[in-house]
Amino acid sequence: MFEPRIVAFCCNWCSYAAADLAGVSRFQYPPNVRVLRVMCSGRVEPEFIFEAFKHGADGVIVTGCHPGECHYISGNLSAEQRVGRVKKALEYLGIEPERLRLEWMSAAEGERFASVMRDFTSQIRKLGPLSLRMGMGDGNHNER
Ligand code: FES
Repeated sequence: MFEPRIVAFCCNWCSYAAADLAGVSRFQYPPNVRVLRVMCSGRVEPEFIFEAFKHGADGVIVTGCHPGECHYISGNLSAEQRVGRVKKALEYLGIEPERLRLEWMSAAEGERFASVMRDFTSQIRKLGPLSLRMGMGDGNHNER
């Protein structure tokens, strides 16, 4: 079975703590998910997402604090706008926009974190491996 590579950008204040809670509480989520901590979802530049895809991710998920709860006021709203723009760009490049997802969660939502990661992994598994024939290189990881 195809095992997708998933990159999860997690906000330090919410989803990263939720991932931690999921681990401590033994809420299982697939080992396919690589968690990358950022200080705010608003810190995730479009380039980070494109680089993740370019370096082998089959799916990227950006997670941040619920609206109104961002520690930097509106970082999560910026993230929402950026993710929307990147989805459009992916579509333009011939890549399924469903390979990129945005989710809000709190530090207390460990179970939800695990459930979202299971769901996203299964969605990406159904889409299959990402092929970067269109515009973003050929998936050669040594490419610069
Ligand atoms: Fe969590 Fe901004 S601090 S999304």
